[in-house]
Amino acid sequence: MTIRMTERTLVLVKPDGVKRGLIGEVISRFEKKGLKLVALKMVKFDRTKGEEFYSVHKDKSFFSDLVNFITSGPIVAMILEGDSAISVVRLMIGSTDGRKAQPGTIRGDFALSIQDNVVHASDSQESFEREYKVIFRDEEIISNY
Ligand code: PPS
Repeated sequence: MTIRMTERTLVLVKPDGVKRGLIGEVISRFEKKGLKLVALKMVKFDRTKGEEFYSVHKDKSFFSDLVNFITSGPIVAMILEGDSAISVVRLMIGSTDGRKAQPGTIRGDFALSIQDNVVHASDSQESFEREYKVIFRDEEIISNY
């Protein structure tokens, strides 16, 4: 018997991806995979939102660089839904460091940096629950279509 686990995950097209005109490319890959877009928004984080979004990294040496980067321009946030969406999307985006990401993944095809790596995706159900609330209200998620 196949076990199906419908999940939701959060993806951001980061400021470098928006500047480079990769919004459509990123969304298209997920749509073609069969993941369903249930929320979509362009936002620009202020410092407070950037620090809140990346709060799990607040003790890392690169925290201020990371917040500077994510607040440097608009980002596109989306919630995707599908069978095992969290792990499927993480596979599709590739390793954090674009130089090490597999060709065929988003970072493998479009990034050469650990910071300017085009996309972010939730790494667990717990991360998703925390992260999406920084950007979306529950009523902005369109279910059952
Ligand atoms: S860790 O330490 O393993 O938890 O960190 P990692 O998962 O590799 O990275 C977490 C996010 O931080 C970004 N990052 C950096 N930004 C700036 N400078 C440096 N040196 C750096 N190292 C990692 C990285 O792009 C990850 O962003 P997200 O949006 O979570 O993918």
